[in-house]
Amino acid sequence: MKKKIYVTRQLPDEVMERLHEQFEVKVWNDPDEPVPRNVLLEEVADVDGLFCMLSETIDEEVFQHAPQLKIVANLAVGYNNIDIGAAKNRNITVTNTPGVLTETTADLTFALLMATARRLVETSEIVRNGEWGAWAPMHFTGQDIHGKTLGIVGLGRIGEAVAKRATGFDMNILYHNRSRNEQAEARIGAKYSEMDDLLQRSDYIVLLLPYSTSNHHLIGKREIDLMKEDAIVINTSRGGLVDEDALYEALEQRKIWGAGLDVFEQEPLPKDDRLLTSKYVTVSPHIGSASIATRLQMCHLVCDNLIHVLSGDEPLTPVT
Ligand code: DGY
Repeated sequence: MKKKIYVTRQLPDEVMERLHEQFEVKVWNDPDEPVPRNVLLEEVADVDGLFCMLSETIDEEVFQHAPQLKIVANLAVGYNNIDIGAAKNRNITVTNTPGVLTETTADLTFALLMATARRLVETSEIVRNGEWGAWAPMHFTGQDIHGKTLGIVGLGRIGEAVAKRATGFDMNILYHNRSRNEQAEARIGAKYSEMDDLLQRSDYIVLLLPYSTSNHHLIGKREIDLMKEDAIVINTSRGGLVDEDALYEALEQRKIWGAGLDVFEQEPLPKDDRLLTSKYVTVSPHIGSASIATRLQMCHLVCDNLIHVLSGDEPLTPVT
């Protein structure tokens, strides 16, 4: 008999076909809205596997409603939406999607850095609104990227891929991790730095570390006060890493130069969020891994994990 899974969002046809071949599949059918909590709690009652997104909180309450659940397979490398301890207590395997999204997320991170530095979105709007006046020497000027200092907080796979791109721009690369990554230092010429030192010396501070309650608001007023006046903060990890109120105040008071944000404390970011009133912020809607090829690869990796675990094999990419 086929194992049962619940999928919390419509997926591309090729992925759904693969899932249907292997499992008895139930799926939340609204392509735009996440599954309501009460529906999720009902739907997991008889399933062996859960294919979920970062928009769902998967916690002890979900596990209590899912007595047969063996695997939670998350369509993301980040897994802060899942209570890993609660899953472990119940012997439920949790998997994520590392590796397949590294280069794509690094591309977006570097694109956001460049767009923020050179004011691409803001100036594009100026052109569209018919506000492009006569040429003037200092109109629309931004910050250079080449030759500047990039401070990467979290030199994991994606951090290293961003650093690799930065070498093409002759950037000086600093990084901070809990522990030194000497192999990456040798590969890309990054220099280890204490956090405060990195904040003081970097022109670009790029956050590329996993979020958990222990690093909530890693970048707050104290950290921003250490930054240079022309520093730019880039966050493509999780919104909770940055105190958005402190960031907004610092930008409006011109204590730092700009911010490029792909992730937010609340997602979707409400239309009236005051961050959106700041011309010093460049925003994108959590699209780090959003290339067609990579999202398909992520979906297939989630399928592979479900197939492995529900046929009694080891998961390919377990969260440990
Ligand atoms: C991830 O994989 O954690 C990304 O944030 C989703 O695109």
